[in-house]
Amino acid sequence: MHLVVSCSLRPTSRSRILAQRAHEWLQTGGHESRFIDLVDHPLPLCDGGESYNAEHVADLDALIRQAKGVLIGTPVYNYDASAATKNLVELTGRAWTNKVVGFLCSAGGRASYMSMMGLANSLMLDFRCLVIPRFVYATKEAFEDGRVSDPDVDDRVKQLADTLASLAAAMPDA
Ligand SMILES: Cc1cc2nc3c(=O)[nH]c(=O)nc-3n(C[C@H](O)[C@H](O)[C@H](O)COP(=O)(O)O)c2cc1C
Repeated sequence: MHLVVSCSLRPTSRSRILAQRAHEWLQTGGHESRFIDLVDHPLPLCDGGESYNAEHVADLDALIRQAKGVLIGTPVYNYDASAATKNLVELTGRAWTNKVVGFLCSAGGRASYMSMMGLANSLMLDFRCLVIPRFVYATKEAFEDGRVSDPDVDDRVKQLADTLASLAAAMPDA
C-alpha cells in the first residue's frame, strides 16, 4: 500500500491538487493507494511528550508504518516544507523507517526549488528513507479550475507515482 499525504491546511491548496493527482496516477497504475488530508486529521504541535497520545496520531502512525511508499504534498513555506508537514514527521518519527518518499510541492516562485532538502536529509539520515530525487515542484501557472493544467507537470506527477511504486517494490521489508 502507498500513502499520499496532503500537508497543506489551505482550503484552496494547490499541493493538495498535486497529491490527489498522484493518488489517481497510483491507482491508474494498479497500485493500492490511500489519500490522507491533514485538514481531516488535525494534529497538535509535537511537544515530545503528551502530544504523541493525541487523537489522529496513532492512526496516522499506523498508516505510515503500513505504507511501502509515501508521497508528501506540501506547500513551500519559508524555503522549507510546511510546519504541518514537519510536525507530522515529528509526531510519527520511526514510522517512516525504510520508506520510499517523494515530494509534491506547490510554491509561490521558481527560486525555492531546493526547499525540501532539510526534510529530505532528516528522512534519509534519521529514518533511512529512500528519497526520490526527481520531485514535483509547481507554481500557480500549472493549475487551472482546481486541476493540473500543465501537461509537463502532470507527466512529472505520473513519473513520481511510477517511480515510487517501482522503488517501493524493490525495497526490503523493514
Ligand atoms: C507563510 C508562507 C511562506 C511562504 N514561503 C514561500 C517560499 O519560501 N518560497 C516560495 O516559493 N513560496 C512561498 N510561499 C508561497 C506558497 O508556497 C504558495 O502560495 C503555495 O501555493 C502554497 O501551497 P498550497 O497552495 O498547497 O497551500 C509562502 C506562503 C506562505 C503562506
